[in-house]
Amino acid sequence: MRRTVSLVSLVSSLLAGLSGLTACGSDGAGTGAGGAGGEGTTAALVYYRDAKPIIDAKCATCHVAGGIGPFALTTFEEVSSHAAAIRGAVEAGTMPPWPADSACNSYYNDRSLTAEQIGTLVGWVDAGAAEGDPAEEGSPLVSPNLRPLSRVDRTIAMPEPYTMVEQPDEYRCFVMDYPGTATEYVTGLGVKPGNAAVVHHVIAFVASGSLVDTVAELDASDPGPGYPCFGGPGFQNPGWLGAWAPGAEGYDYPDGTGIPVEPGSKIVVQVHYNSLTSGPQPDQTSVLLKTDSAVDKTARLQPWTNVAWVGGTGMEIPPATNDVTHSFGADPTAFVNGGKPMMVYSSFLHMHKLGQSGRVSVKHTDGSETCLLDIPEYNFHWQGAYQLLQPVVLQPGDKLSLKCTWDNPTMNNVSWGEGTEDEMCLTGVYFTSME
Ligand code: HEC
Repeated sequence: MRRTVSLVSLVSSLLAGLSGLTACGSDGAGTGAGGAGGEGTTAALVYYRDAKPIIDAKCATCHVAGGIGPFALTTFEEVSSHAAAIRGAVEAGTMPPWPADSACNSYYNDRSLTAEQIGTLVGWVDAGAAEGDPAEEGSPLVSPNLRPLSRVDRTIAMPEPYTMVEQPDEYRCFVMDYPGTATEYVTGLGVKPGNAAVVHHVIAFVASGSLVDTVAELDASDPGPGYPCFGGPGFQNPGWLGAWAPGAEGYDYPDGTGIPVEPGSKIVVQVHYNSLTSGPQPDQTSVLLKTDSAVDKTARLQPWTNVAWVGGTGMEIPPATNDVTHSFGADPTAFVNGGKPMMVYSSFLHMHKLGQSGRVSVKHTDGSETCLLDIPEYNFHWQGAYQLLQPVVLQPGDKLSLKCTWDNPTMNNVSWGEGTEDEMCLTGVYFTSME
């Protein structure tokens, strides 16, 4: 992160230098900057031509009336009134939320800004956040490597609306019937928030076989629709379908791959509600699935962690201690893929609220390492799966490795658990088997 900041300052000063040159070389015709500033300023950067295309594409997906963002960024007035905060957030790298370090790997659906885009926004604010001419609006930004949800075959809605009771955060699992009558493959996942102002993130699980009864009991154990759940869905060995965060309708899974779901399964949807900007409001969210009756390669979203930690040993986080790190690595091909190589397409990292940073990588038998995901500043509010542009092959003998670091300011001995006061260090990979 620190390195990003200095790079940003460098780029913005380069841009400032460049636009200063342009201004000198041009005939100085006003671009709506009102003639303010002296020679060599960044006055060439204006809202309509320079800032708006970036903000429309990278911010207004969330910062829109009724969206999860605390204010709208859809007009010049809205954007300019938040100019200082925008400058601070983009320079610090906290907005748009995308905690993955780009030095580790490259991903589909990357929400982050390039150093140049940050330079443009910072330079625009520094130059006085001028409006410019609406007639000269810059062309819409085309983000590279998007893999949006291309089709919706099944819409599975919460059975009835639910209004959060805990504030500002509540985590609740809702149980829905899977309507398929034959085995189907989920090839894409999205979410239609019933109320975009409160739905912060959604994780979808599948329960089949004997888990169907377990889930029905959990559902019945709490009045109203669903049951409280925080760290996971509240039962052992769920099937994972995927995770969603605001800012897009959803994502397709890698071409030709999909996760099988049997008829009679239940879909368990964990919704994280956050009422900070809107207060508690009713919500009836739907999960959107793209499904196919067959795929080239069956995929699984395999959670991965140290079973000893889950059993309560080896992941102690002592009271009033910072920088506590635990790591784990083992060969997953032996455990989950019959000793065959695995093609890994994406990964995620899950800790709870004390989590500070973490890393998921493949340690190869020759001693080299492929980084799958590195999160230098973990934020519980912004979790998601990161789809690699280039899938990674994991050979038998390679280790899928996981490292988490926590700060524990509390007086409690913290270890693995599902509760808000407990912690986890969990990754998961979306993979297919290679012959
Ligand atoms: C994926 C949704 C999303 C996107 C995309 C997004 N924001 Fe935000 N933004 C939020 C939410 C939610 C908050 C409230 C704080 C939080 O939950 O982190 C927020 C808070 C902010 C804040 C106030 C808090 C702070 O950090 O100073 C600013 C300023 C901001 N966003 C600017 C931006 C800008 C500029 C962009 C685009 C370059 C952007 N955001 C993109 C969701 C988003």
